[in-house]
Amino acid sequence: MSLNKTMELSDKASIDTFIKINSDKKVIVIQGLGFVGAVMSLVCANALTEEYAVIGIDLPTPTSLEKINAINSGFFPIISSDKKIDEYFKSAQKKGNLLATFDEYAYSKADYIIVDINLDVKKESAFNGDLNGYGVELNSFRKAMETIGKNCKEDVLILVETTVPPGTCEQVVKPTIISELKKRGLPVSNFKLGHSYERVMPGPDYIDSIQNFYRVYSGVNDKSADEIELF
Ligand SMILES: NC(=O)c1ccc[n+]([C@@H]2O[C@H](COP(=O)([O-])OP(=O)(O)OC[C@H]3O[C@@H](n4cnc5c(N)ncnc54)[C@H](O)[C@@H]3O)[C@@H](O)[C@H]2O)c1
Repeated sequence: MSLNKTMELSDKASIDTFIKINSDKKVIVIQGLGFVGAVMSLVCANALTEEYAVIGIDLPTPTSLEKINAINSGFFPIISSDKKIDEYFKSAQKKGNLLATFDEYAYSKADYIIVDINLDVKKESAFNGDLNGYGVELNSFRKAMETIGKNCKEDVLILVETTVPPGTCEQVVKPTIISELKKRGLPVSNFKLGHSYERVMPGPDYIDSIQNFYRVYSGVNDKSADEIELF
């Protein structure tokens, strides 16, 4: 991705080329290339049971563009004591099944979307430091879900891994996706949606803590739960 492309805010050509090269694979798009999402993208690109084409997407901010450029230039942006990170990154580069981008166009290619963005809790502290209360600011999370709904396939599977308050999939994600699909004149009963909170444990077994560990999951309906279990 060149600087010019970044300034144009389009990475469509790279995404199309990547999809063409990986045309025999299902596509996973991972939203958020932070501490969790970046490593999740390696786990998906080295999945044990199936070969996937994996696109990690982050925002076009200076910090995130640095991460995106690093991944596409062969430098993994997360420092870890887990040797498997380097091994998995090299393997994905060799296979050519991992791309990083800032372009929302990527969502239109996804069979699966994994949400690994931040949702921050704001503490309200008293003058003496005691906790008065806390709040969750949902606006940017809601906006991220709108972006998915504006671009995704009507039968996509969306798996939220971000730590969210109970009820968020049902009361925020689902209506947002339905509303955006309706605006595009698409059916609203075919997408699958669920939650599986991320349990990563950074350290020497970082990859294993994602790949070889029990997971809890749920779906907004039976079809979603079944497909999420399989995935
Ligand atoms: N870090 C951990 O050890 C850990 C462990 C378990 C669970 N979690 C949960 O995983 C989630 C992610 O954590 P993290 O540590 O990776 O956070 P992080 O802040 O390191 O990364 C989040 C990334 O998401 C990106 N992002 C935000 N909005 C976006 C959007 N609309 N589109 C694309 N990218 C967007 C940000 O730019 C950032 O790069 C959080 O909900 C956290 O609670 C984290």
